[in-house]
Amino acid sequence: MKFQAPKGVSEYVPLRSNAFERVRDGLIAPAKAAGYELLELPVFEDTELFTRGVGESTDVVSKEMYTFEDRGGRSISLRPEGTAGVMRAVIEHNLDRGQLPVKVWYTGPFFRAERPQAGRYRQFYQVGIEAIGLNDPAIDAEVISVAYFGYRNLGLKKFRLDVTSLGDSTSRAHHRVELMKFIDAMNIDDATRARATLNPLRLFDDKREDVVRQMASAPLLRDFLTEESKNHFAQVLSYLDALEIPYSLNPRMVRGLDYYTGTTFEFVHELLGAQSGIGGGGRYDGLMESLGGQKLSGIGFGLGVDRTLLACEAEGIDYSTTNTPDLFLIPLGDGAMNNALALAGKLRNAGFIVDLAFGDRSLKGAMKAADKSGARFSLVLGEDEIASGRGELKEMSTGSAQSVTLSALESALSAR
Ligand code: HAM
Repeated sequence: MKFQAPKGVSEYVPLRSNAFERVRDGLIAPAKAAGYELLELPVFEDTELFTRGVGESTDVVSKEMYTFEDRGGRSISLRPEGTAGVMRAVIEHNLDRGQLPVKVWYTGPFFRAERPQAGRYRQFYQVGIEAIGLNDPAIDAEVISVAYFGYRNLGLKKFRLDVTSLGDSTSRAHHRVELMKFIDAMNIDDATRARATLNPLRLFDDKREDVVRQMASAPLLRDFLTEESKNHFAQVLSYLDALEIPYSLNPRMVRGLDYYTGTTFEFVHELLGAQSGIGGGGRYDGLMESLGGQKLSGIGFGLGVDRTLLACEAEGIDYSTTNTPDLFLIPLGDGAMNNALALAGKLRNAGFIVDLAFGDRSLKGAMKAADKSGARFSLVLGEDEIASGRGELKEMSTGSAQSVTLSALESALSAR
């Protein structure tokens, strides 16, 4: 029997795994530079954390969670996203009892039982940050800028930033009354109506043609913002202007998770087709309290590592090249392997990338392996070399060789 990975998971094998790593680390770097600290979270949690945190009106919770009973009879779910788990950890470990905001980053796999297609996987990877405990437009701008510079530093150009404000609870309550009136008069089926009762904003995200047509004239949240929400959002936009981060206002944006309030955003890549959302986030000012914590506001994002890699590839940015060895060692004859391993160890500890010919190869076979490795230099280590303590350092591209003392190989490599 031949095994295959489960349907719809993303996995990365060499050489593309190099690009995956480079993209993931490229998205993490600006978060670290902005003072965010690592929070390493479990990949499974109590199911209720997600039903309460993410919301039952969402596809993510109602249709896509990997939920199972563990051996103790508890309902457990693989994490579909990171924000609820971060809140749980912050509350559990009292991280919010010290200096605010709490600023953390995380990365790893997330799980949603979606219908697999290009750019949409059942196991996928995110880099996320959360800033908790500050309702200041400047932190909104910081969070957005961390994501923006992550993409830009990877070399991406063909993406845009969509922003909107979902307002505070007062704004949303006013809007909800008008939107529900509007939806009551719409011609929709019972299931859609039930969904709208849980969260009427969901209908803005409905892709069915007749719903889209009817929703075209629905009242927009933008027109119901309180003065405070309006001012907060205006200040965020002026900070983005100052940072020279271009954006489009998208008052019809709907995020797939229910906890969002206020500033909300998405990064969309032009070349990715249907699954073009490379990252998104926003404020979630009621989330912590709804999970049993203090009444603290928060904002964060989740960036899709898989889709960001696809975006790089679509723009012709190739990070898949491997770290080729500086030196390829070829031990020949009895006892040479001892010396080769010791020499390789010493040079690796000094920071060089060193590979060597394993197995009982002929010199010809070993030279082929050296060629294939892409190494800059090779060195044969046979009985003569070991006895004399000298060898020939061969530059692979030119074939030219230089006699070197083995004990001084480190400085010879540095000099070259
Ligand atoms: P999200 O928009 O659900 O937000 O996911 C963030 C990103 O993860 C998406 O923009 C997309 O790039 C990627 N993604 C989501 N689902 C898939 C999938 N099935 N396959 C591949 N990539 C996917 C969140 O998860 C929020 N927790 C973000 C957040 C943090 N908001 C505030 N703080």
